[in-house]
Amino acid sequence: MIHVDAQNQLFHLQTANTSYLFGLYKGVYPIHLYWGRRLQTAFPAMESFYDFSHAWRNLSAGDPAMGISLDTVPAEYSTFGSNDMRTPAFHAVYPDGTRLTELRYHSHTVYAGKRPLAGLPATYVECDDEAQTLELTLQDPVNGLRLVLSYTVFEQPDAITRHVRVENLTGDTVRLRSVLSAQVDFKESDYDFLHLPGAWLRERHPQRHPVFTGMQSVSSARGTSSCQHNPFFALTAHDATETHGDVYGFNLVYSGNFTAGVEADPYGTARAFIGINPFDFEYTLEAGDCFQAPEAVLVYSDQGLGGMSRIYHKLYRTRLCRGEFRDRERYIVVNNWEATGMNFNADTILRIGKKAAEVGVDMLVLDDGWFGHRDNDQSSLGDWYVDTRKLPNGLRALAEQIQAMGLKFGLWFEPEMISPDSDCYRAHPDWCIHVPNRTRSEGRNQLVMDLSRPEVCDYIIERLSAILDSAPIAYVKWDYNRNMSEIGSAGLDAAHQAELPHRYVLGLYRILETLTTRYPQVLFESCSSGGARFDPGMLYYMPQTWCSDETDAVERAYIQYGTSLCYPYCTMGAHVTTVPNHQVGRSTPLELRGHMAMQGQFGYELDLNNLNPDEIEKARQQIALYRRYGAVFHTGDLYRLVTPDSGMMANAFVAEDGRTVVMVVATLQATPNCPVKYIRLQGLEEAASYRCAETGTVYSGEVLMRVGVAYCPEREHVSRLLVFERV
Ligand code: DGJ
Repeated sequence: MIHVDAQNQLFHLQTANTSYLFGLYKGVYPIHLYWGRRLQTAFPAMESFYDFSHAWRNLSAGDPAMGISLDTVPAEYSTFGSNDMRTPAFHAVYPDGTRLTELRYHSHTVYAGKRPLAGLPATYVECDDEAQTLELTLQDPVNGLRLVLSYTVFEQPDAITRHVRVENLTGDTVRLRSVLSAQVDFKESDYDFLHLPGAWLRERHPQRHPVFTGMQSVSSARGTSSCQHNPFFALTAHDATETHGDVYGFNLVYSGNFTAGVEADPYGTARAFIGINPFDFEYTLEAGDCFQAPEAVLVYSDQGLGGMSRIYHKLYRTRLCRGEFRDRERYIVVNNWEATGMNFNADTILRIGKKAAEVGVDMLVLDDGWFGHRDNDQSSLGDWYVDTRKLPNGLRALAEQIQAMGLKFGLWFEPEMISPDSDCYRAHPDWCIHVPNRTRSEGRNQLVMDLSRPEVCDYIIERLSAILDSAPIAYVKWDYNRNMSEIGSAGLDAAHQAELPHRYVLGLYRILETLTTRYPQVLFESCSSGGARFDPGMLYYMPQTWCSDETDAVERAYIQYGTSLCYPYCTMGAHVTTVPNHQVGRSTPLELRGHMAMQGQFGYELDLNNLNPDEIEKARQQIALYRRYGAVFHTGDLYRLVTPDSGMMANAFVAEDGRTVVMVVATLQATPNCPVKYIRLQGLEEAASYRCAETGTVYSGEVLMRVGVAYCPEREHVSRLLVFERV
């Protein structure tokens, strides 16, 4: 997987279908050479391949030994201060106030497998022959600062992960201002930039535009990865589609402030980058200490967006998600949030549970409002003690009554938040993120707990453990409902204040590591006002994320489509809710709501007592269908046959063994007098025969893929689920 050509000073990283190459110019300076379709033949020596003559255009060579200006050569990892004028990946301030870092080759090592990142989530291997890792150590010859660039090659499923560790061997304090996780200098800039902007209720709606000369990036400085932007982007060939064309994906395994983008220069080259957002970032690294930047996951495919997505999906569902639920079918839940809000008592919940058990659901999830005196969103976050006004016999009694119905019991928390009206806040008014003598802006009447303080993290671990120990709780919904403002910590001195956002994320990860290790039998689902923290960092601890508070089936088609560009359907929580929909007021058939939800982690978020007998029967059928084909949705390969921008959507999920194909097709917008559409499947074997379970018709894979299946989108909000079994 990793070949080091010592004679030509080349490092050739090969996955099953890709090559990634860089070399050491004059034996010291790492220059990026190639990333794309796997090269089968030897690469020439860098000097005979690369045209360095234009490198004289700008400044003269800073370092005479190098003999070139670095401004127009593709750097493997750039630093601020010398003659590379583009935005650097690394920027630090030294005790004398200077900001120049020059990195030169020091050493390298290649080993089988992949090591964990200290304190941070990351992809992993289960045995060492699944991947190989190259660690390239670079050092500043003047001050001794070291950077270790780490590359792990997953031959299957075709991905390369990167991260950076800074080792302060300077003997002095160094102030880090930017330590990006990955940079790739492309020789051309004629690509499209595709990213996933959004907002509450309309998360991850893809945008794509040609790269222009200059900087284009997406970022978050909200303290969380956010719904406004996702730490994912792709550079695509202008003509790349779902099925063909070059696509380069970048994704950051991190849940805090990030930057991700591309800078195209006037010479037609492009620098792609991803990492912790340097804006408002500073980290003081004492002599002898290390700083670990998060992991970036890089995926190239010449099979278009679909090819890229399938690689991310496979890597994430098998080597990012962890724990006993990774490979297990999850629970079909009924959640009371859209049924009752916070206005419930034990009887209401038991009534919802009883009907859910009759219909065949696995678990009842009690959402917000069971603790403190939380009758609305104005109080009690932080007071993780049962509200005995609503649940007079406590949680254990309720959970056991639910269990007696044959259901498991799940519970909602929002552990990272504190309400000013709470005993916790009255006892510890400095436990929230705040700046002394300034307004503490509230979001949904709440403040953010300061997780950069170990004692605050310990309190959260203690309180949640106490609740989880107090009752048979099989599932936790972990919510997070506002962004950070007035970013200051009572636990950090002046020199370390700007470290708060990163230290917060480290504190959060420590809490999650502790709780998920302590309670391996509990399924954790991440949530953030819906899907405002849908990132690989959270998926490492919790194998599913509530995709959006927008539960309307049509809107979900768009949100789930955008999300699926990077994240697999098995990570998306998706529920059937009532009509008219609470968010947009639209009424859609129960079938469509079911078809949209069952592609993800399925459940109901309504009181099933309110369904008529016909609807109850349909719900039973949905549950049966999901039990039968859920594994295909969640472990099969996704092919997006029709994307929702066309007013229709069609997805096909092809089971790992290729024997079952489940296709969901839906009309999202009506077109009057619409012609019949022929939906061409993908991912089948041309010569194999497939029987349609609905009609009994047998088709060849070739016919299904070249001619297609007839679908008449005669009415708005019609949907069908077709199953093809190989015969
Ligand atoms: C926001 C979540 O996205 C909802 O599903 C629900 O849990 C509410 N918070 C509860 O406050």
